[in-house]
Amino acid sequence: MSQMRIRPSGPLRGHIRVPGDKSISHRALILGAIADGASRIENYLPAADCRATLGAIRAIGVEVEEVSGTSLVIHGRGLRGLQEPSDLVDCVRSGTTMRLLAGLLAGQPFLSVLGGESQLRRRPMGRIIEPLRLMGATILGRDGGRLPPLAVQGGDLHGIDYTLPVASAQVKSALLLAGLYADSPTTIREPGPARDHTERLLGAMGTRLEPGNRDVRELRIWPGESLRALDVEVPGDLSAAAFLVVAAALVSGSEIMVEGVGVNPTRAGLLDSLRAMGAALTVEKRRDVSGEPVADLAVQATELCGVEVDGDTVVRMIDEFPILAVAATQAQGETLVRDASELRVKETDRIATTVAELRRLGAEIEARADGFVVYGPTPLAGTTVHSHGDHRLAMALAVAGLVASGETVVQDVACIVDSFPGFEALLRGIANLPNATGAGP
Ligand code: S3P
Repeated sequence: MSQMRIRPSGPLRGHIRVPGDKSISHRALILGAIADGASRIENYLPAADCRATLGAIRAIGVEVEEVSGTSLVIHGRGLRGLQEPSDLVDCVRSGTTMRLLAGLLAGQPFLSVLGGESQLRRRPMGRIIEPLRLMGATILGRDGGRLPPLAVQGGDLHGIDYTLPVASAQVKSALLLAGLYADSPTTIREPGPARDHTERLLGAMGTRLEPGNRDVRELRIWPGESLRALDVEVPGDLSAAAFLVVAAALVSGSEIMVEGVGVNPTRAGLLDSLRAMGAALTVEKRRDVSGEPVADLAVQATELCGVEVDGDTVVRMIDEFPILAVAATQAQGETLVRDASELRVKETDRIATTVAELRRLGAEIEARADGFVVYGPTPLAGTTVHSHGDHRLAMALAVAGLVASGETVVQDVACIVDSFPGFEALLRGIANLPNATGAGP
């Protein structure tokens, strides 16, 4: 089994960049597939999850040129030019791939079967199946339509008026994609500020998409006739930068700059939470890149204090709780996370796995039904911990290893390629740690 060995590090130093944003890379691929003509994507994230989307759009007839590892040209087939896949479409471990594709495929006049690995086959799909059925698609899944694989027989769709039961960008995006194929407008209301990358890209492609009643976060999409091709430079992934930002905030004497990171407000909850904890974190050189706000993040180590995270902030940092928990173990006082029961249906039950693994290191952390509470600061002591196959937990545990005494061995780290290829080398580089075979960086 793959593993990462980490020892306490000296100060983290340097100016770095992180790979492209995962959510935007998925969306650029899917929307490029149904655009008219060639879309160019720069700084695409070549992680396993995005490669699942790349394989999937090829399976429905889309030609994609890989100009380099991070630069793609997608030869869009237009809204109505996709082809029936001849085999099961493998979404591997990627929930975003499966849920967004289900929305797209619901509008196609053919049958698609979406499958993936065991981790993905445990993820709830009722949340997309129910509204897509209301729009007129026929979708079958295991366990009464709750679990993958999914068989999607697309067809004529009707616009619906739908309030999402959870603040999920994947569900919202699936409905926006299906809405392009409906015979009337589709209205979506979301209970929290889920990431809005799909809306930004669809807007740039000429889709008619308008906010409705802002008090209830309403969004209305009109059926599409054609989509303009994209020319996108994907910003650095804030959810990847998060691990390095927290590492620098925790390791005494550190000072780093992460350049070119997407700081879309629907993603930036961790930055707000860290600032509330007293982190020395500044967002510099704000600019617009391909319709997304981008900035450089400057971080220095400081003493942190506990924080309460709940409500909309949870939605705006939904992928950052394993690393927030690591930060909280070193913060003075109590950190309380509430309203975060969605964490239970991520790649793992992230409340259970984060609590179990940080406890092995000596953290005082307790699970709650909808979050967790951490009492800090506690000294961490290196030992063997497990990722449970969850990329974000693996990286959070590696960062914990930088502040734990002795050696921390994180087992099953191969999953890090799902979102952040090159994480270990980048971390060892800025932390000046020897690499896994003992040679200096
Ligand atoms: C994502 C949305 C979030 C997030 C996931 C990526 C997306 O999931 O956790 O990593 O790209 O739309 P939910 O939509 O389930 O909240």
